[in-house]
Amino acid sequence: MKVYQDVKKLKNVKQLIIPVCENQSLPNFVEEVLGYDISKDISLAHGDVTELYTLGKCDIVKFIVIGLGDEEKLTRRLYRRAIGKVARSCKEHFAIYVTEKDEVCAKNKVYDAVYQSLYSQYNFTKINAEKEETVAFDVVCAFDVEELVEKAVSDAKSVCHARNLGNTPSNYMIPEKLAEEAKTFAEEFGLRYEILGNQELKELGAGGILGVNRGSKNEARLITIWYEGNPGAEYTALVGKGLTFDAGGYNLKPGGSMRGMKFDMCGGANVLGAFEWIVRNKQKVNVMVVIASTENKIGPDGFTCDEVLVSMSGKTIEITNTDAEGRLILCDALTYAQKLGAKRIIDMATLTGACIVALGKTYTGAFTNSEKFLDELMESAKQVEEKVWPLPIDDDFREQVRKCDVADMTNAVLGGAGGGSSLAAAFLEEFIEEGVEWIHLDIAGPADIASGNEYATQGATGVMVETLGNMLK
Ligand code: BES
Ligand code: MN
Ligand code: ZN
Repeated sequence: MKVYQDVKKLKNVKQLIIPVCENQSLPNFVEEVLGYDISKDISLAHGDVTELYTLGKCDIVKFIVIGLGDEEKLTRRLYRRAIGKVARSCKEHFAIYVTEKDEVCAKNKVYDAVYQSLYSQYNFTKINAEKEETVAFDVVCAFDVEELVEKAVSDAKSVCHARNLGNTPSNYMIPEKLAEEAKTFAEEFGLRYEILGNQELKELGAGGILGVNRGSKNEARLITIWYEGNPGAEYTALVGKGLTFDAGGYNLKPGGSMRGMKFDMCGGANVLGAFEWIVRNKQKVNVMVVIASTENKIGPDGFTCDEVLVSMSGKTIEITNTDAEGRLILCDALTYAQKLGAKRIIDMATLTGACIVALGKTYTGAFTNSEKFLDELMESAKQVEEKVWPLPIDDDFREQVRKCDVADMTNAVLGGAGGGSSLAAAFLEEFIEEGVEWIHLDIAGPADIASGNEYATQGATGVMVETLGNMLK
């Protein structure tokens, strides 16, 4: 990828993407090359594409004008989608033209254009197929944007890595493999890491993770990586649900609901992606990522209803539904992060189908014990335009979770009282110690998209990677 300051200096570029708002005119060189002003004759409605062939009048074979719609209504996300749409469809080397009089505006657009092009070009490489090279592209911008382009490339790498982990089929992406991926990353950047298997988990009394793991022939893993970007400061922990496949356990999921459960590790993948984002940018924070990983399947010793599991914290849990397994592995991961000294925790999980019922497929549900902490996250989400919506935890939910005759709590509240996402969050809150600030993100909806669209392939989205990467700096 090259950065050109002048469009006339472009070399070997056959296609130039020119994004233009409705009330703007095309850049002068277009008229110079074509010999007439075409501005009035083409639609610049958002997402409309017009291809203008230069018929040998310059090295560029065609200009691809992409409409950005009304400038007043142009959001960052709309800009990205327009760019993504063309970048995803371009089959040959292209360049993106960014023209803005204001330097800050120009830089933001260059960042968004590069980040989004890479995001939109991403496809999962089919198993046993050869990796297809993505189409190369350059950027044209009058300002000095080299550093920003580098950051956009690095950020896109982090989010696409998370998406790739999510998309990898569940018989390949088993807990051991996820741990290996984390290890490879940690070693590449010289970071301290720890990977615990069943034996160590037993010694730690991680009864939640091990309980869920009993139905699986593959061992569980508890993965931790540390990054010290601000020596001496307290650590923020990013905790993820890395359920590499959720069949439901003995409370087996019915046919249709089991499909897509390879994405049940997207919380883990995405906290790893956010962590990678922070590390690659050398952000000045101390962060540890803690990912609990297992499958939830059926086996001779698979855990069942009516059992009581003793969690790492010592709190006891009666199993009322083996499909409410995410909270069982997360509670141990949360306890572990606190044992390691984390004072602020953000956990991410595809935790409840109820969150999709409440917020749909595009919103992340957010729960917290610290409004201030959540405000920080909401502000970051707003900046990068990821959709997050706060949901409640209160005594009504806490009482329902604690209502249990044989243990401190049940893992699933039966009886159809509703509020499944809040009940799951209230369960997790039981494991947060005094003085620790905590946010729980339920990404059951936005973790993956079932069918691709113009600017992204189907599958894992890497949701919330950008929000967290942008927040912790
Ligand atoms: N992984 C699922 C949640 C989920 C459902 C994510 C659909 C994405 C799409 C989770 O482990 C689960 O099964 N939750 C149960 C909880 C219930 C048994 C209390 C659910 O949502 O039905
Ligand atoms: Mn489940
Ligand atoms: Zn699950």
